[in-house]
Amino acid sequence: MTSRRQFLVAGAAASLLTPAKLPAAKTTGSDFPYAEFEARIARRDFRDITKDVLPTPCMIVDLDLFEKNLKTMADQSKAAGIHVRPHVKIHKSVDVARRQIAQGAIGLTCATMAEAELMSGAGIKHVLWTKQPAGVNNISRAVALSKKDPTFMFVVDDPQVVDWVEEAAAARNARLKIAVSVFAGMTRQGIENGQPALELAQKVAASQRMEFEGFMAYSGNASHTKPWPARRARSAADLAGVRETVDMARKAGLPVNIVSGGSTGTYNIDQDNGLTELEAGSYVFMDTAYFAVGGKDDDAVYGDFKGALTVLTTVDSKRHPNQATIDYGNKALNRPTDQVKGMPWLQVASQGAEYGILKWTEAGRDLKLGERLEIYCTNLDMSTNVYDRYYVARGERIVDVWPIMGRGGAAQR
Ligand SMILES: Cc1ncc(COP(=O)(O)O)c(C=O)c1O
Repeated sequence: MTSRRQFLVAGAAASLLTPAKLPAAKTTGSDFPYAEFEARIARRDFRDITKDVLPTPCMIVDLDLFEKNLKTMADQSKAAGIHVRPHVKIHKSVDVARRQIAQGAIGLTCATMAEAELMSGAGIKHVLWTKQPAGVNNISRAVALSKKDPTFMFVVDDPQVVDWVEEAAAARNARLKIAVSVFAGMTRQGIENGQPALELAQKVAASQRMEFEGFMAYSGNASHTKPWPARRARSAADLAGVRETVDMARKAGLPVNIVSGGSTGTYNIDQDNGLTELEAGSYVFMDTAYFAVGGKDDDAVYGDFKGALTVLTTVDSKRHPNQATIDYGNKALNRPTDQVKGMPWLQVASQGAEYGILKWTEAGRDLKLGERLEIYCTNLDMSTNVYDRYYVARGERIVDVWPIMGRGGAAQR
């Protein structure tokens, strides 16, 4: 006798294939076994699951391109003699992070305390948190994580914070690994280079509870500067003061183990600017903001890394000429600078919380009702924060699902 469970699984497998065979317009919601689909995802049974049955909007990772991007970064950094400590804010995924480590990354860079807790909690060592803790919540969490994971490191750019964390560390009998955040052209954080940075580094090194590891210097204004020669010049200018600080620290007898910074945009530049490690993040997936910055050999398109992440969307309505309504709206982080994969004639626009519009002017173009399209996002940091999972694809087949565990949510604040 067939159990209800076996029946559901068999039924689901058959139904999951249905949309590929039927014209999309004939597929109705009742054909799609959503509850069973979720159960199969939960038990990682991806048989017969193809892109065309996925609920939209959803994020798709092209595994071939993703792996290529990891390899490009690993090969280039190895050849250039610089380490990679990739930034996780782009993907917020333990699965992605593990693959970066497997490709030789020396640790991870995190933007929030919650990201650091997530990655360290998953067993990944040498996590660097690049924002200083200035409130009791973050101070106590940074100290607690340092105690639990002695490889965890965070930054300070203010002597006041050194005093606060020293006190908290003493109360918990913890030891801390600290990098001094120095100004690198962006006014959001970083102590002034030269004497102020040196004095802060000395204060850290002289403290009872802290180990001075080196400097963090993120030249964020250089990352998207174009064309490439201007980017190189910008990064060199932004990091000139940092190099002086590093020289002063070494002359003063401080060990400078790391000088951390850089980005996807400057991955083939910053080995010449005194950095020992790159905090690049976007290279794993890429977005349209980065496509536009141009590369060393191509001013128009930054092709060193490939677009490995798209949002899959469905054409839901088509009642007006030269436009179609899709389910990729404001809540899915629709942006006018997004691009439709393989269809440069389409312009993306928003039509509301759950609606987007695709428009075109070229004669002879059209979209079909039910058609599936893939969209490159404009800014990954923002977009990946509103999706729950990556569907990982080899061609049309879904071969894995990676939860976006570090995205917004109570546990992640
Ligand atoms: C501190 C820090 N380091 C590095 C990066 C570089 O990331 P990406 O390679 O995505 O430009 C960022 C991006 O915002 C950042 O905030």
